[in-house]
Amino acid sequence: MRKILLITSSPRGTESLSTRFATEIAHGLRAQGDTSLTVRDLVANPPPHITEDYIVGRAASPDSRTTQQNVAVELARELVDELCAADIIVLGSGMINFGPSSQLKA
Ligand SMILES: Cc1cc2nc3c(=O)[nH]c(=O)nc-3n(C[C@H](O)[C@H](O)[C@H](O)COP(=O)(O)O)c2cc1C
Repeated sequence: MRKILLITSSPRGTESLSTRFATEIAHGLRAQGDTSLTVRDLVANPPPHITEDYIVGRAASPDSRTTQQNVAVELARELVDELCAADIIVLGSGMINFGPSSQLKA
C-alpha cells in the first residue's frame, strides 16, 4: 500500500488556493487505489519554531535531557518519522515573501 502524506500550511482556510490544489492532487492519487492518506494541517496544529531546547536536546544523550528538551526532540522525531514513512508527499504552500509559508518552514 502506498502512503500519501498531505501537508497544508495556509492560514486562509477555505479561501486557500494551495490547500485546494494540494488536496485535489492528494485525492486524485488516492483514487488510483491501494493508498492511505494522512493529512497534516500545519495551521490547525502548528509546529513550534526551533528552540534552544531542541538544539541542545538533540545533541544530548536521551537520559540527560530536560523534560522540555525531550518534548522538543520527540516532536521533531515524530514529524520526521511521518515524512520518512510516506511514499508520496504532497506539499501545499503559497509563495510568501519569496519563499514557502512560515508554517511550512517551521
Ligand atoms: C504576506 C504575503 C506575501 C506574499 N508574497 C508573495 C511572493 O513573494 N510571491 C508571490 O508570487 N506571491 C506572494 N503572495 C501571494 C500568495 O502566494 C497567494 O496569495 C497565494 O494564493 C497564497 O496561498 P494560499 O491561497 O494557499 O493561502 C503573498 C501573499 C501574502 C499575503
